Amino acid sequence: MKIFLDTANYEEIKEAASWGILDGVTTNPTLLSKEKEDYKTLLKKICQVVEGPISAEVVSLEPVGMVKEAEELVKIGKNIVIKVPISKDGLKAIRMMSDKDIKTNCTLIFAPIQALLAAKAGASFVSPFVGRLDDASHYGMDIIGQIVKIFENYSIKTEIIVASIRNPLHVVDTAIMGADIATMPFKILQQLVKHPLTDTGIKSFLADWEKVKKG
Ligand code: E4P
Repeated sequence: MKIFLDTANYEEIKEAASWGILDGVTTNPTLLSKEKEDYKTLLKKICQVVEGPISAEVVSLEPVGMVKEAEELVKIGKNIVIKVPISKDGLKAIRMMSDKDIKTNCTLIFAPIQALLAAKAGASFVSPFVGRLDDASHYGMDIIGQIVKIFENYSIKTEIIVASIRNPLHVVDTAIMGADIATMPFKILQQLVKHPLTDTGIKSFLADWEKVKKG
């Protein structure tokens, strides 16, 4: 399973990259709005720190506009992937981008059949939002299992990015279900490393080592 950071914060990305486990980054307009830097400069810096896919979202609502934006965004870095919200026009844009060899991530997926349509249009990635479904009293992870199954049924190569992750269990379930990627806020990534028994274990090993040294 690949691990992506769901942030546009350069310091967080640099830190996670230094752990040697970061495979990519997803941004969206909301995440970029939280940062002070000009978004193109920021995306360029991110592309230089992480070799894997960096998603940047288009905001036009019609296909030609989306493709124009995408053509500008891909100039920022060779690893830029264009995030396109699912819609009729989004599908048209994904098809047009795919024909131009521009990689796409179809976002705001809340139903398995939307993921299938995006894959058919040529999306490189689909991003189902599990946390937002949980917030609306639907088990978000249910659709992940369904998308994994559908993609297996038809040998679809589009990668599944589990997005809108709110807690470590979403990440565990992503791995158990066999989805390709979990994208998560830095806070969740930090939580994944920690276990109270690890902390007490290290403490007692260090204390016992002092006894060893004293002989
Ligand atoms: C990532 O691709 C999504 O934009 C992001 O995970 C949405 O997360 P949120 O539901 O916490 O805003």
